[in-house]
Amino acid sequence: MSELIVALDVQTRQEAVEKVKLIGDPVDFYKIGLELFTAEGPDVVKAVKDLGKKVFLDLKFHDIPNTVAKAVKSGGRLGVDLMTIHAVGGKAMIRAAHEAAAEYGAAAPKILAVTVLTSLDQSDLADIGILGRTPADQVLAMAKFATGNGADGLVCSAFDVGSLSPQLPLGTLFVTPGVRPAGAAVGDQKRIATPATAVRGGATHLVVGRPIMAAPDPAAAARAIRAEMAAV
Ligand code: C5P
Repeated sequence: MSELIVALDVQTRQEAVEKVKLIGDPVDFYKIGLELFTAEGPDVVKAVKDLGKKVFLDLKFHDIPNTVAKAVKSGGRLGVDLMTIHAVGGKAMIRAAHEAAAEYGAAAPKILAVTVLTSLDQSDLADIGILGRTPADQVLAMAKFATGNGADGLVCSAFDVGSLSPQLPLGTLFVTPGVRPAGAAVGDQKRIATPATAVRGGATHLVVGRPIMAAPDPAAAARAIRAEMAAV
């Protein structure tokens, strides 16, 4: 059964707590990203955990192995459930993140790798020295590299799960943003999948932001998405 994660894209701890309470039971997993974490720090993670919710801390670590390992340990102490790193940080960094998380045993945060930012196209890759590979080739290469070195899963498009999963270890997590229920505003997303399409494609976790956060009745919007996921 795929899980629904709501992107808590707000600016303050107070707004975050209000939204989590307003949405209530239909959602038990929230993503806290750079904007909210930089504004409010670990207190906002604690506040969401105190409401009984799981937290995906999406800070996309990319640093030397020792620093990333310590940051992952800090996340583990906060009790976060999912964290992100950049696969391009290299083998030792990915392994260090994995080992730091493993110290938390059954409560270990799962480490997700970002392969290629969806904002980058082929010419952007060339600019940073990645030549002769399409973004899709690079996504696959980095996905194999990251999962081969201890990453538990990937953040990727719902449309890429089908081609990636047969080439990756069984049990790899696929966390997919860019999800829109039929009829919802697309916003700035480019390749959108409906919740049903994402689940059918093999996504283990769907990240949904504005279609729930900006809905007139966020709890009802979340319930509708869960129903669509469950019907697959
Ligand atoms: O509001 P929306 O559903 O578009 O929010 C999607 C969330 O997923 C945002 O927090 C966004 O930053 C994140 N995300 C994304 N695309 C990626 C990686 C992360 O939309 N490739």
